[in-house]
Order: sequence, then structure tokens, then C-alpha cells
Amino acid sequence: MTGSPSTVHVSTAGDGYDVLVGRGLLAELGGWCHEAGLNPQRIHVFEDSGVPEKTREVAVGSLGSAAVTRTVLRLDEGSKTIATLERMLVEMAGASLERSDLVVVMGGGILGDVGGLAASLHRRGVRVVQCPTTLLAMVDASVGGKTAVNLHAEISGEGMLLKNAVGAFHQPSLVVADVDALQSLPPRHLRGGLAECIKHAVIAGERGEGLLHLEQLLSAMPTLLAGDPEALVSLVRASVELKAGVVAGDERELATGANAGRRALNLGHTFAHAIEGCGQTRVLVDGHEVHPEHGEAVGLGLIAAAVLAEKLGLGSADLTDAIRRTVASAGLPGRLSSSPSFNTLMAAMRQDKKASGGQLRLVLPTPAGVVMRDDPGNEPLGRAWRALLSAD
Ligand code: GLY
Repeated sequence: MTGSPSTVHVSTAGDGYDVLVGRGLLAELGGWCHEAGLNPQRIHVFEDSGVPEKTREVAVGSLGSAAVTRTVLRLDEGSKTIATLERMLVEMAGASLERSDLVVVMGGGILGDVGGLAASLHRRGVRVVQCPTTLLAMVDASVGGKTAVNLHAEISGEGMLLKNAVGAFHQPSLVVADVDALQSLPPRHLRGGLAECIKHAVIAGERGEGLLHLEQLLSAMPTLLAGDPEALVSLVRASVELKAGVVAGDERELATGANAGRRALNLGHTFAHAIEGCGQTRVLVDGHEVHPEHGEAVGLGLIAAAVLAEKLGLGSADLTDAIRRTVASAGLPGRLSSSPSFNTLMAAMRQDKKASGGQLRLVLPTPAGVVMRDDPGNEPLGRAWRALLSAD
């Protein structure tokens, strides 16, 4: 075995599971599964063709005596669909996977979400090991058991992508986060993952230490963007620890009232999902106007949520400024270069899964952490959206 990984335990209503964070872990994937008590007869691997072939071959080669079948895919938000889910289910059935067998998902957050959902459905549930290979998947998507696909729907006369509209909770049995996989990650995707880490630092608020403290994260940003492996291990570990604590307290997102519970992790996401869902939104990335990816939309969503919180007397100008600076330091866009009308953005926002009776429920940042607020009305929301359209 390679050097010992950091282990973060996620406590759940079931047995809980470990998240291993370290370097060189995928080369000994079979050993880590064995150590976690996972010794199936058959393993079906869903692997992302974006992960270097050598990394995948070595990982699959380490799986030992189990009969291994494999499906190589490349998914994006547009193919995160029920049709792809069906294809994966057909592959698992073709591999004669039994309930005592195992699914391994190796790739980014989109593959992890659909693969996890397929695992939850095959024979009413088969165990899954998540091997996230993007920063976003390591610090967020692979941990906590949320699985999903998107739906395309017509809302208020506009075609919209409803993000993660169909899904299930299906906790993994093990998560293996090998930060060496980040070395081959395109810079745009590394930056996208940093948006979720900034979110975690904002949730930690004044309690945040090390890379969970916004100013310290900002100072470390050049090192992280340069791909320093030790800094990335520290960042992934800190982020996973925060997420594990939140998930343990409210695994199924059932907390009510002022207690944000797991919904805290949706900070910035009500804005972000609307930004992603409207096909007309554009941001400037590497000199090109493009539709924002998830992490870019989350960075913008954090800024909008901070402006809204400030407007409602909950946040502070200093916090908004710190969030803006940290988002900028990660090389993420701080504004939309084009967007649909306010009414369209609001219609998209109201598709949020936290909405109740059409009323929005928003997670808002304060210096001490996050609070929940019901629909604040169009005027403050308009101010928050305008903050993403202004030139500063
Ligand atoms: N990504 C939000 C959550 O896992 O709850």
C-alpha cells in the first residue's frame, strides 16, 4: 500500500463509511476496497474517458479476483439524463450484477451522480464505491449520497434544464479521493471545484480554521491553482470534514425552521441552478463567452447570496467583499456577461427543490455562518441579480 491516506468518517443512519484522501490511492483501489470489507464476486466499473487511460487501467487492474466488467462514458449536464441512466442499468443487468456485488464509479461529479443513482436502482440497491477524479466531485458530489439526473422541461414558455430533478439518497460504501488525479484536470475544472471549497469556508464562517477560513483560503489560492499536491490534500480533507459533519447532522435534508441542516450546503445553489438552467446565460472564461459550468455558476451564486444577505441586514459588506475577492482569486467569473430577463431567472429559481408552495427558501451567508430565509420578495432578489450584471 502507498503512504497512509487521511481518513474522514461519514456517520450515517447505516454503518457510515470512510472517505480516503491522499496520493496514489487509485493504484491500490482493490486493497482499499478489501480493507473496507468489500469483497464482491463481481464489480462493474463506470469510468470517465476524461481520466487518463493508464490511471484507469492500473486502478481496475488492482481489483483482484472479482470478475470485472467496465463501461467507459463521457457525460455532461446535457447527457445527465434518464436515457443515460437506463443505459447504465442495462450494462449492470448485462453484467449479471447481484445485490451483494459492487459498482465502482471513477470520474467527475456528473458520472458519480448518475452512477450512484443507477446503483441505488439496480435490484433495489447495490453497493457503490465512489472514486472522484475532479476537485468538485472530491469535495462535494461524491460525499453524502445524493444521486440524480437532470430533466429538460418547458417553464413559463422557456426550455429549461432542471438540475438534479430526479434522484435518490444512496450513500457510498467507500470514497477514494486520489488527488493525483487532479494533475490531469483541465484548469477550468479545477477552478470550478474551488467554488465549492469557497462555499464550505463561507458555511464555516468565523469558526473556520486553516483552509476553511476565507482569508486563508484566499492566501493559499495561487498554490492551489498551481496544483500543489500537499495543499490539495489539505483542502480536500478540510472540505470533506466540513461536509461530513453537516451530512451526519441531517443526512436526508429534513431539518426545518431556522436550522439550515444539510440545506446549508446549497448556499449559492438556488441562484446557481437558475444560472445553469437558463441556456442564454453567458460568462467570460479564458477570453471566451460561454455558458457557465456548475462551479462557475456556484461562484456567482455565492456573490448573489452575499449581496442579498447584506440587503436583508443579515450579511455584511466585508463578507460580500471577501467572497468576491476569493471567487476572483480562484479565477472564477464575478459577473454574467449576458443573461435572460429577471422574470425568466425568477421562474428558473422557483424550480429549486427547496421551494415550498412556490415560495423560495434561501440559504444566506452571515459572518457567523449561514441562515435560512423564506422568499424575500422581488426587490431584494432583483438587487442580488443586478449585482451579477453590473460591471464591478
Ligand atoms: N451538494 C449538496 C449536498 O450534498 O447536500
